[in-house]
Amino acid sequence: MTSTFPENRTAVVTGAGAPRGIGRHVARALAASGWDVAVLDIDEASVKDFAGELAGETGRTVVGIGVDISDKDSVEAAFAIIDRELPPVVAEVNLAGIPSPHTIFEIDDAIWDRVMDVNAKGTLFMMQAAATRMIQGGHGGRIVNTSSITAYDGGGTFSKTGYAAAKAAVLGLTRGGARELGKHGITCNAIVPGPIDTDIMGGTLTDERKAGMSSDIPLARVGQPQEVAGLIKFLVSEDSSFVNGDSVFVDGGKHMV
Ligand SMILES: NC(=O)c1ccc[n+]([C@@H]2O[C@H](COP(=O)([O-])OP(=O)(O)OC[C@H]3O[C@@H](n4cnc5c(N)ncnc54)[C@H](O)[C@@H]3O)[C@@H](O)[C@H]2O)c1
Repeated sequence: MTSTFPENRTAVVTGAGAPRGIGRHVARALAASGWDVAVLDIDEASVKDFAGELAGETGRTVVGIGVDISDKDSVEAAFAIIDRELPPVVAEVNLAGIPSPHTIFEIDDAIWDRVMDVNAKGTLFMMQAAATRMIQGGHGGRIVNTSSITAYDGGGTFSKTGYAAAKAAVLGLTRGGARELGKHGITCNAIVPGPIDTDIMGGTLTDERKAGMSSDIPLARVGQPQEVAGLIKFLVSEDSSFVNGDSVFVDGGKHMV
C-alpha cells in the first residue's frame, strides 16, 4: 500500500527543547518544507518559546508542548493537544533521549530504569500514539526513531553500556514497527548518528574534544545537527516511500572503522 499525504499535515518532533539540539534543526527543516509541527520536550518553557519563534519565522502552525515521553499519560495528554490544534499527524520523529556515562558496575536500578524508560519506552509510547492516528486517518505515515552508533560500538565516554542497550532496543522497536505497521502505509526507520555537535555530551564540545572524537571518523570531523536534519527530512518525505525497517548511519563513516 502506498500513500498520498494530506496537503495539511503535522510532523511531531520530540526533543526540540535543547537550544543546540538536533530536534530544533529538524523542526526548522520540516517547517521550511511545508509541514506544520508539534515540538515536544520535557522542558516545556523552552519548547513553547521555540514554537513561537519558528511559527513567526515560517508562517506555519507550530505548537510547543511539554511532555515526559516515558509517561504514557503525559504522551496521551500531548496528543490530545495535537489532535485539537493541528492537522493530521503524518510524521513522528523521536529524538528525545538521555545519555548515560555509567559503567556496568555503576548502573543501579534507578539509572537503568531511567535510561531505558526515556530512550526505549518513551519511543514506544510515541510510536503507539502516532501510529494510532496515522491508521485512523488512513493516510499512512512516517516514523523515524533515533538510535546511536553506541548501539553498535558499545559506547564512548558519555554514552556507555546502559545507553548502548537502550539504543539497541530502539533498533528492535523500529524493525518490529516496520513489520507491523507497513500494511497501513506507515514506514518506520531509525537514524544512527555518530558524534554530533550538540550539548548532549555534558556541554558544548571544545575544539580539543571534537578533535579527539574525530580520530576514528573517516570524514575527520564530528557532524552538525543540520546534517542529521537533512536525513530526517528525506525519511519523512514521500520520496522515501519504499525505505522501511532500515537503520541509516549518519556518522561520517565511523561505523566502518
Ligand atoms: N549528539 C550526539 O552526538 C548523538 C549521537 C547519537 C545519538 N544521539 C541521539 O539523538 C537524539 C538527540 O540528541 P541531541 O544531541 O539533540 O540531544 P540534546 O540533549 O541536545 O536534546 C535532547 C532533548 O531531549 C529532551 N528530553 C530528555 N528527556 C526527555 C523526556 N523524558 N521527555 C521529553 N523530552 C526529553 C531534552 O530536554 C532535550 O531537549 C537523542 O536521542 C540522542 O541520544 C545524539
